[in-house]
Amino acid sequence: MASLQAIKYSRGKLLVLDQLRLPHEHHYDEVSTAEEAFECIRSMRVRGAPAIAIVAALAHAVELQNGGCTATTPEDTIAYIESRLDYLKESRPTAVDLSNAIALLKLAARATKLEGLAYPEAKEAILNSYIEAAENILAKDLENNTSIGSYGAAWLQQQFNATPDRPLSVLTHCNTGSLATSGHGTALGIIRSVHAQGLLKHAFCTETRPYNQGSRLTSFELVFEGIPATLITDSMAAALFAQQRARMNIGAVIVGADRVVRNGDTANKIGTYALAVLARHHGVKFVVAAPTTSIDLDTENGDGIKIEERKPEELTQISGAVVEPDGKVDTTRTARVAIADQRIAVWNPAFDVTPHTLIDAIVTERGTVVKGADGRFDFSQVLPERW
Ligand code: MRU
Repeated sequence: MASLQAIKYSRGKLLVLDQLRLPHEHHYDEVSTAEEAFECIRSMRVRGAPAIAIVAALAHAVELQNGGCTATTPEDTIAYIESRLDYLKESRPTAVDLSNAIALLKLAARATKLEGLAYPEAKEAILNSYIEAAENILAKDLENNTSIGSYGAAWLQQQFNATPDRPLSVLTHCNTGSLATSGHGTALGIIRSVHAQGLLKHAFCTETRPYNQGSRLTSFELVFEGIPATLITDSMAAALFAQQRARMNIGAVIVGADRVVRNGDTANKIGTYALAVLARHHGVKFVVAAPTTSIDLDTENGDGIKIEERKPEELTQISGAVVEPDGKVDTTRTARVAIADQRIAVWNPAFDVTPHTLIDAIVTERGTVVKGADGRFDFSQVLPERW
């Protein structure tokens, strides 16, 4: 049965949809330890900045709930929690949501009130603080996304004066939907909200080479939701703007973020920067949808962002379901095939950085941030406590 739920959680049990098998197979893996979560994230069976953070946080919660911590003193319990979180932090480096979640979880464990408590109550109290904080990250993400959807839709409506008689088309890149989050999505969440208000003419989504999050995952979500949509390869975006912008009323490119730094420079899926350059050339707005959990105010500008590089096979090989000679797709048979000479040298950065100068708006769950008269983004309105 097809499902858009990437993460299924109840206390003590975490199921994660294997996104490597989508859209052909819907298989959930049980993830119960930090090691299993690390592998699930590193292999990209779960991906997308918010989903990575949620799976890491909850997998450790499950581990703790099921007796994974043998410490007896409060100090050792906290040390154990922190060492497991530090280990998980190394699974993927670019998205800041994971680091932000880890900082919050460490604070929650350390803030446990322990007066008058001895073993085992003191340990139980710390574990409970951690587990509740991890569960809260899951719940809060869904709230954030619905709110980003509303703010983003309102901003677009106002920019383009969109009405049901004059709806708007948009282009999105990578996958930022339910599959990349706890539900609804960020950039794709805005598209969902625009569609729900009757203001969406058409959504275009890029294939998103090399890992094909657009063709495998976003296409699946758009079809699943019945949103009018067309898939293009990444290299078709310029032609799309040149030939169809006016006819289709293409107003904006909407993308997600793995890390938005202090000046607004934004790391996102490789290919995002190219789309921002094209959008500027064609007079199309460029919008980043980012929960405040994706904002990193400790890094001044994009030069400070570590970009993950992935293995060559993601470019030189591809997997999918077998297509029969009559054109039918046999979803029970999948194959991995080589699509390049396996000896060629490969450069495979997973993300690029879009300079803030090319970004028109950053939509968070607390509102839409646009540049001031000085050309700078000011996040103090959405993150007063971290400014
Ligand atoms: O490599 P991925 O698939 O994890 O990259 C995902 C993206 O770049 C998304 O745009 C970003 O994480 C935001 S998801 C809401």
